[in-house]
Amino acid sequence: MAEPSGILIKGGKVVNEDCSVISDVYIENGKIVEVGRNLQIPAGVRVINATDKLVIPGGIDTHTHMELAFMGTRAVDDFHIGTKAALAGGTTMILDFVIPQKGKSLLEAYDAWRSTADAKVCCDYSLHVAVTWWSDEVKKEMETLAKEKGVNSFKMFMAYKDVFMLHDSELYAAFAQCKAIGAIAQVHAENGDLIAEGAKKMLSMGITGPEGHELCRPEEVEAEATQRAITIAHTVNCPLYVVHVMSKSAAKVVSNARRDGRVVFGEPIAAGLGTDGTHYWHKEWAHAAGFVMGPPLRPDPSTPGLLMDLLANDDLSVTGTDNCTFSVCQKALGRDDFTKIPNGVNGVEDRMSVIWERGVHSGKMDENRFVAVTSSNAAKIFNFYPQKGRIAKNSDADVVIWDPKMTRRISAKTHHQAVDYNIFEGMECHGVPIITISRGKVVYEDGQLQVSPGEGRFIHRVPFSEFVYKRIKQRDQVGRPTAVIRKPYEGKVISV
Ligand code: URP
Ligand code: ZN
Ligand code: ZN
Ligand code: ZN
Repeated sequence: MAEPSGILIKGGKVVNEDCSVISDVYIENGKIVEVGRNLQIPAGVRVINATDKLVIPGGIDTHTHMELAFMGTRAVDDFHIGTKAALAGGTTMILDFVIPQKGKSLLEAYDAWRSTADAKVCCDYSLHVAVTWWSDEVKKEMETLAKEKGVNSFKMFMAYKDVFMLHDSELYAAFAQCKAIGAIAQVHAENGDLIAEGAKKMLSMGITGPEGHELCRPEEVEAEATQRAITIAHTVNCPLYVVHVMSKSAAKVVSNARRDGRVVFGEPIAAGLGTDGTHYWHKEWAHAAGFVMGPPLRPDPSTPGLLMDLLANDDLSVTGTDNCTFSVCQKALGRDDFTKIPNGVNGVEDRMSVIWERGVHSGKMDENRFVAVTSSNAAKIFNFYPQKGRIAKNSDADVVIWDPKMTRRISAKTHHQAVDYNIFEGMECHGVPIITISRGKVVYEDGQLQVSPGEGRFIHRVPFSEFVYKRIKQRDQVGRPTAVIRKPYEGKVISV
């Protein structure tokens, strides 16, 4: 039997970032065609009863590293398994990172990542590109990526010394180029020199286990780099996006900068909102190593709560996961030396539920803010709103039927990811995606996925996102310093 051509979602509460309203939603050919009460729909369409359920825009994960080759191995969630897991968790788009090696072409790395991802993705995706070295060629390639390749965000690393790290003068040049081409500068904000020294110190003290990973790079190492990046970005009036904000100190730096009027956005991740760094002190090595990522989770157990408060209050803006998964046997590369434990954790499948549980169910945010921080703000910052991140006529039909009352318990035994453990193991979450619709097709229902690799599409993003650049342009116009008009000095000048 032929698939019905349309889908009518009936009687649910449609939740956008600014309002909620009981409404029907009609979907056809991958798009939302109509939103309203008692829609007159052609016969033969599939009707989904969403009474007592929320109808929300599909989640957008701003930060993933599917199948990344990193620290001597490769992340186990590839674009196929990773995007399937995303859909099962109510996420319908990911933004992954192209990370060229130092000295290598950004464009070639982009092309390679496109051909890997295009063939495998089950949901829509887009790409940020990392700037890991600096030259005139890199500068030119950034422009080509922004003008022709759909990339409007570039990540600069202040950590991973000698691998990806840039120095301040290079950061300055890269931020200035982001500004010139209308892109958003993203930073991994940790002081790479201090981490290298801290790691040597810990190892010399005989601290070789996962706790050394946090001890060698305490909060201030993250906060200092965050402040430095904000200062550099401000000198060139470039918008800044701080990826994976993991500590109270760094979050407060972002929050203070926003209060000072800086155009800066902070991205906490599911791991930092849902768990903490006390696990690094766990007696079982494999358990502790499973949480190793950079910047580390923080041992102060009140950290996730504060990050969630700041996210609820718009001090932090948007959520990702930094999904970069290595199974226990891969983590074991660092069995005798924490600096060799591949950095990365899971999150792409559980982000939506973790944020609902710790954000909405806890009373810190409402359903509208939930939508803002799980999809709409990402779409606005990275310039594809309202194509995505909104339930509205003409938007893409990436829609989730969310049951706020249903619960599920997170476990590696039941998750769809390839990694063999889950940092949220045992967490009970209220708020469950019961149906996920991607590109107008029901892809997840009754716990079953119905997807094929390559069904997702690359989302081409254009530069100069209004949400980000309006204030920047205004400041350029009115804030330009001018020279003081004076009569020439006519007095004596000493001879030298
Ligand atoms: O530990 C992490 N974060 N792994 C992925 C690379 C990065 O810095 O985002
Ligand atoms: Zn990073
Ligand atoms: Zn633990
Ligand atoms: Zn990352």
